[in-house]
Amino acid sequence: MSVLIRGVRCYGEGDQVDVLVEDGQIAQIGTGLSASGGTEIIDAPGQVLLPGFVDLHTHLREPGREYAEDIETGSAAAALGGYTAVFAMANTDPVADSPVVTDHVWQRGQQIGLVDVHPVGAVTVGLGGTQLTEMGMMAAGTAGVRMFSDDGVCVDDPLVMRRALEYATGLGVLIAQHAEEPRLTVGSVAHEGPNAARLGLAGWPRVAEESIVARDVLLARDAGARLHVCHASTAGTVELLKWAKAQGISVTAEVTPHHLMLDDSRLAAYDGRNRVNPPLREASDTEALRAALAEGVIDCVATDHAPHAEHEKTCEFAAARPGMLGLQTALSVVVATMVQPGLLTWRDVARVMSERPAQIVGLPDQGRPLEVGEPANLTVIDPDTTWVVAGAQLASRSDNTPYEEMTLPATVTATLLRGRITARDGKSPA
Ligand code: DOR
Ligand code: ZN
Repeated sequence: MSVLIRGVRCYGEGDQVDVLVEDGQIAQIGTGLSASGGTEIIDAPGQVLLPGFVDLHTHLREPGREYAEDIETGSAAAALGGYTAVFAMANTDPVADSPVVTDHVWQRGQQIGLVDVHPVGAVTVGLGGTQLTEMGMMAAGTAGVRMFSDDGVCVDDPLVMRRALEYATGLGVLIAQHAEEPRLTVGSVAHEGPNAARLGLAGWPRVAEESIVARDVLLARDAGARLHVCHASTAGTVELLKWAKAQGISVTAEVTPHHLMLDDSRLAAYDGRNRVNPPLREASDTEALRAALAEGVIDCVATDHAPHAEHEKTCEFAAARPGMLGLQTALSVVVATMVQPGLLTWRDVARVMSERPAQIVGLPDQGRPLEVGEPANLTVIDPDTTWVVAGAQLASRSDNTPYEEMTLPATVTATLLRGRITARDGKSPA
């Protein structure tokens, strides 16, 4: 298949150009390029061309909770959101703690073919926090697992975390930590602060995250290991990351779109859609997270796309499952919170949504420059449109978006995976 994308601005910069894609690669970049018969044309005058997005943190619920999402519906949501690779977290049922599960996830993703679904392997058996998994077996399997996390729960035992970091370093794979000291969040459902106190919701203090981040960067330092911090949510975590990076500790971090945009003032509605782990914090945290992403203290954006069914969300706040959809709204939220206020350029968006995540996990064919001969993993964006979010119209099987009825800027008009169109004008290919 060849595709001619006409009139785009690479990284949103410079003059409009045409980009010809052939045999899965960028074949030509120029003006007035012509197409041979059978070439698919994408007319995108003035639109922005970026490398396809890479999500280091997504929950696709297969195996085990396919009523909320599966690899097919999640892949469609990812492609429509501009993603060409996603990392599917291990907290499935059964847990992705063996090659049987991780190879299934990878192969199912390849069969569907909309996005590369890289399984994340669990750090501990059954996410139980005590016994390390056979990370080497998962890394050596068909899926070539390169990232391990017990996300959803924290590897809270410091000795287990230390051993995990040591083992992973030997294998050259990445440990990603969901930083939450469980003794400090027993019964917690919302950010600990004046809002939760007034509403009678049990609080999840910032220090539950920060104490683990502080411990883990020191463990990483001592083990000479790499550490990735999932969903940084507090201003204090930003300070710790700044300190650790200044010491030369090999730590990277992600922030979610929802922690960039939303804060705990939303709790007043007692709407279960606002329950998430880590919880929505205060406006001062949101501001610190935006600044940290702009400065590179936080490396990238990751969605923490967490689908939950209607009955798991439309209930008392404390009973609602934590998590929010994110794949199809991530770009728009980043545009609203970072690009429109002038904190990031489009080139920076390529960095935080594609290049850095690809580097962090070492994906050789993602987050590549927009140049001839490079793999055609591409996202085309109309920066000048707005759209109204409606959960029921998203490709996910679940509807739990916190942005329901909000008007957001920018739409993904096309996504290409190795030169094949995987999303176009809001639709998956037939
Ligand atoms: O809000 C969350 N939802 N945070 C997590 O860590 C897990 C996730 C899920 O699996 O639903
Ligand atoms: Zn998490």
